Amino acid sequence: MAGPTIAFWQEHFDRGTMPWDRGGPSPALTAWLPQVRAGRTVLVPGCGSGWELAELAKAGAVVTGIDYAPAAVAKARALLEERVLLAEVVEADVLAWSPAQPADMVYEQTCLCALHPDHWTRYAGQLHRWLKPGGRLFALFMQKARAGASQGLVEGPPFHCDVNAMRALLPADLWEWPKPPYAATPHPSGSFELAVTLVRR
Ligand SMILES: C[S@@+](CC[C@H](N)C(=O)[O-])C[C@H]1O[C@@H](n2cnc3c(N)ncnc32)[C@H](O)[C@@H]1O
Repeated sequence: MAGPTIAFWQEHFDRGTMPWDRGGPSPALTAWLPQVRAGRTVLVPGCGSGWELAELAKAGAVVTGIDYAPAAVAKARALLEERVLLAEVVEADVLAWSPAQPADMVYEQTCLCALHPDHWTRYAGQLHRWLKPGGRLFALFMQKARAGASQGLVEGPPFHCDVNAMRALLPADLWEWPKPPYAATPHPSGSFELAVTLVRR
């Protein structure tokens, strides 16, 4: 499998070197929260330490986080327990896992950019299958262009989520795109993410 492995992510959590981790929920989620009504099902792939799971659970959503690194799952479960919040945290590969029922929403924050682009088509298929028709994908597209791309190098994580690539990956016949420009959210790694809400057709 091309790209980072479970061991790669596990090691980052074990060492406590998580440059992506805000130590709290992303301001982009705070901006989206008013759209998340209580009782709605929300999936959070690559949930990491679980900051966003806690915020969504607090808003009354029925939340499921998915992460394949055991240390991430343990951290997220511990956070929820500490805050006395209910959310499911599943230890699974986002490329293989499926929910029992299609969800109302997916919150995609730094999972796509953690995957090697060789897996993006499969992941995009998962996102489409996970959602009900009319369901929303709250996506944060990581903007981390690298000089090596001009020589064809594929570098990451994070892998740059160029908007042209995103349009090809999540095509307009399967996803309703809002009109740009999109809001930029600064990322702790020094880059930024474009916040786009897509509707699953
Ligand atoms: C860059 S971290 C982001 C964590 C969290 N979303 C955040 O923003 O703080 C990427 C996370 O995705 C998880 N991940 C990467 N590939 C995965 C896969 N194929 N299946 C499940 N989890 C995966 C990693 O274990 C890690 O926790």
